Amino acid sequence: MFFEAARLEEIATGGMKAVEAGGKEIVLCNYDGKIFALNRRCGHTNAPLDMGTLEGYILTCPMHNVQFDITTGEALSIPVPLDPGNEKLPERTLKHFQYIAMLMTHIRVCDIRSYPVKIDGGAIKVDVEEDSCCV
Ligand code: FES
Repeated sequence: MFFEAARLEEIATGGMKAVEAGGKEIVLCNYDGKIFALNRRCGHTNAPLDMGTLEGYILTCPMHNVQFDITTGEALSIPVPLDPGNEKLPERTLKHFQYIAMLMTHIRVCDIRSYPVKIDGGAIKVDVEEDSCCV
């Protein structure tokens, strides 16, 4: 069953928008004028993907930088810990970063669900009943 989620003019090319459709959190992505709908929550530890970055068809999570293919929901990478660079940080802070990085290697990354989309008179409609990928 398709639910109206947004209007086409609300999402510029290369943009994203968080919406709710049929009681589910969805992120809509505009890739080259085509709209894709995905579960809004990251397949790693649930960060909101609309706060990440979209470059072409690759959505990068804002939390630990896992990348997803928006055309399928497939996870394309593993988590990448924050790099403090050359900044001089207290030893305790560095140890914390290392501990978090170690923990991340023990958290499985799942693909995210993608949903069928149709455009109807400028309305973006998403079928949240039918899942088009596995988790
Ligand atoms: S929550 Fe998205 S990469 Fe960790």
